[in-house]
Amino acid sequence: MEILIKNSLTITDQKSECLVIAVNADKTKSAILKEVDDATNGFIHQLIKSEDISGELGRTAFLYSGSNNLKQKLLFVGCGKLKEFDLTRAKTIIKAVITTLIEKKVKNISWDLLTICSAINHDIVKQLPQIINDITYNFDQFKSKKSPLPNLNKITLLFSDKKQLKSITNYLVQGQIIAEAVNATKTIANMPSNVCNAQYLAEQGKKLGKKHTSLKVSCLGEKELAKLNMNAYLAVGRGSENESIMTVIEYNGAKDKSAQPYVLVGKGLTFDSGGISIKPAAGMDEMKYDMCGAATVYGVMQAVAELALPINVVGVMAGCENMPDGNAYRPGDILTTMSGITVEVINTDAEGRLVLCDVLTYVEKYQPKAVIDIATLTGACIIALGHHYTGVMGNNEQLVAQLVTASNNADDKAWALPIDDNFQDQIKSTCADIVNAAGRDGGTITAACFLSRFTEKYQWAHLDIAGTAWKSGASKGATGRPVAMLVEYLMAQ
Ligand code: BES
Ligand code: MN
Ligand code: ZN
Repeated sequence: MEILIKNSLTITDQKSECLVIAVNADKTKSAILKEVDDATNGFIHQLIKSEDISGELGRTAFLYSGSNNLKQKLLFVGCGKLKEFDLTRAKTIIKAVITTLIEKKVKNISWDLLTICSAINHDIVKQLPQIINDITYNFDQFKSKKSPLPNLNKITLLFSDKKQLKSITNYLVQGQIIAEAVNATKTIANMPSNVCNAQYLAEQGKKLGKKHTSLKVSCLGEKELAKLNMNAYLAVGRGSENESIMTVIEYNGAKDKSAQPYVLVGKGLTFDSGGISIKPAAGMDEMKYDMCGAATVYGVMQAVAELALPINVVGVMAGCENMPDGNAYRPGDILTTMSGITVEVINTDAEGRLVLCDVLTYVEKYQPKAVIDIATLTGACIIALGHHYTGVMGNNEQLVAQLVTASNNADDKAWALPIDDNFQDQIKSTCADIVNAAGRDGGTITAACFLSRFTEKYQWAHLDIAGTAWKSGASKGATGRPVAMLVEYLMAQ
């Protein structure tokens, strides 16, 4: 979809097939609305009076004027009271407009979107491509009948503030890069486990590295992981026919090439059956999404490269599969992690933390500025925060606060959960240093406590995306979260 910003404030001489025009609920007419009314000899005024065109937020009216002065189709959209107009309301009207245009098979439009409230224009242009992609995204690779592409292919936004033209264009480009990254994450995350195994994640990483010369990609297979004593990671993958592979994507964009990097670690369980502590059948299909953390890392690294951010970033996709098998690890096993800490396996379904703990030790070698892990780690997080908020925990208040702020700015929300020493008692073991599963109470926090034992050497935050990474039911599919939040965080650095 092409989005143009045009330095013009007259709408009636635009060549587009359709003009999209905001109507407010204050009963005042914008200059553009007056212009359209004049061109139609007061016809629009009549329709507003009769309330066939309404200023109510999100209400649309699609019509042809029939006037010779105005050949274009017209789409009016209510934007509510001008004083109350904000980004949330802007998103509502964008969704309403784009859905209507697609339904009406309109090809190209001119739109007065940036004339409603100049204070939030930067946020609006950053969100616009993301909202469009969310509406138009399709995962139909495996369908015999593909969904038709939307006819809508060009949007011209009218805008007259010359001084802001450059910065508005910049924000639009950022929004487009984030939208593409979210799409890339969705498509990897949506792949079924019989296609997407750790090897597949590695190949995707390699391909990304070929496309962007600023990215250096390397892969560590089971042999290499064994040499590094990453025994907890390896134990989880032992029951699977698919090799465990850790894919590392390095980006060096800082002026000072040796500047400390930001490190992202993504849980990449390409399937989580639960292992010997096998999961119930209902909903087990959705455990193909247990690699959404790794898919997020992929998308963020793509965005970082395309934005050419002036920082160093390392992204790790911890690919692995958790299966029951004669060779699988078992409840009761005691594992010696790369760090030397020993873990008593209580439940083989608490596998994510076992994979992550070794990777968190591995990344010490980068002397990171901060490490953020992203993981579909606990069902308990869905109980705590539902599907709207990603859970954030960590060992540094400032880092946690920065991530929450970034999540609000990106409208990809996260909420901090407490993780103090009171919870640490729950992961004591009678025969090893710690257990891998600590019962139902505060399950999201005790999982983070487990990880915290492996992150003492640097600033660390943990994102539990169990509730936000995908949707179930009729709209089943990956969401691409929290790519937008993490890109926002990295841009703020
Ligand atoms: N991948 C799951 C967490 C999960 C479950 C995410 C459902 C989204 C939806 C994770 O590996 C897991 O199984 N966690 C267990 C931990 C428990 C055994 C301590 C859980 O949440 O039940
Ligand atoms: Mn599990
Ligand atoms: Zn899992």
